[in-house]
Amino acid sequence: MDRRNNIVVDGRFVLHSRIGHGAIGDVYRARDRDSARWVAVKVLRAVHERNPKYQRMILTEAEILERVEHRNVVGFVGRGVHGRLPYVAMELLGGGSLHEALQRLPRRRLDVLGAVALLAMTCHGVQAVHDAGFAHCDLKARNVLLDGRGRAAVGDFGLAMRTGPTGFLATALVGGTADYMAPEVIGRATDIVAATVDVYALGILAFAMLTGRRPFTGNCAEDLFSQHVGRPVPLASSVRRGLCAQLDGAVASAMNKDPDRRPASPRAFADALSFAIATPPRDLGMRVDAVARDRGKRAAEDLDSP
Ligand SMILES: Nc1ncnc2c1ncn2[C@@H]1O[C@H](COP(=O)(O)OP(=O)(O)O)[C@@H](O)[C@H]1O
Ligand SMILES: [Mg+2]
Repeated sequence: MDRRNNIVVDGRFVLHSRIGHGAIGDVYRARDRDSARWVAVKVLRAVHERNPKYQRMILTEAEILERVEHRNVVGFVGRGVHGRLPYVAMELLGGGSLHEALQRLPRRRLDVLGAVALLAMTCHGVQAVHDAGFAHCDLKARNVLLDGRGRAAVGDFGLAMRTGPTGFLATALVGGTADYMAPEVIGRATDIVAATVDVYALGILAFAMLTGRRPFTGNCAEDLFSQHVGRPVPLASSVRRGLCAQLDGAVASAMNKDPDRRPASPRAFADALSFAIATPPRDLGMRVDAVARDRGKRAAEDLDSP
């Protein structure tokens, strides 16, 4: 199903043009006949028609989109099977991906307040996914979508996994993208990992949005893996001068090599970022919240002891 303009999926969605082409499926801009609105429809690629792994991936994605209702998670419109190909229809985010948006900026980075606002939204979206019993496992700038009016929504649940009653994931099954992959997944020293693999990826994303580059770069996945596992993470302020120590600390703490020393949840990371940029009302003689400041400082000190 590579070029299917004007094909009608399930008698409801009229495919218009392809807007995404990925490993699992193609994403089309489509017209929903029921609502007369534009939507996005992701259809399993025909080459995967008989591949149970890919079938399962798109079905899990559809299930998550259907279950998680949150303004920072891509909205669900419908799901079903077209011919033999499962599809999921979702809200169309008109602003494209965060990756594309960053590429358009001259220094590929956002102003601090804008970055923190978008990160907080992303964190809240991921929190809703965690609360529903899933971990995303592939958070990155390409999988955060923008509505063009200031809202970010998390999408692409192709690699998402159920955390189950224990709250943990089977390490061997966790996938992801090398640039964003947590050290405990790479090392596979334990059989299970926590959903804070997503917090690590959010830390990488935060670093990239604030500085215009990712903390680790390399020519191949192995090169990146060894840095995630063994190389101390740089401070964001070493790339972008003038970032405050609290923000440095918050971003670095999310990328701590030890999952137990990261913010415990995406929500906690959003809080740490918000505290870091909080400006107290000086008119009232107030100072920066001491607890927040200490948390930032402690996180920065943690960098010295990987
Ligand atoms: N709901 C959506 N609204 C707008 N664009 C989307 C939407 N879903 C996906 N896209 C576009 O399609 C691309 C690929 O979709 P994604 O869900 O990330 O699948 P994959 O990475 O598996 O191909 C995204 O990066 C984005 O540009
Ligand atoms: Mg994607």
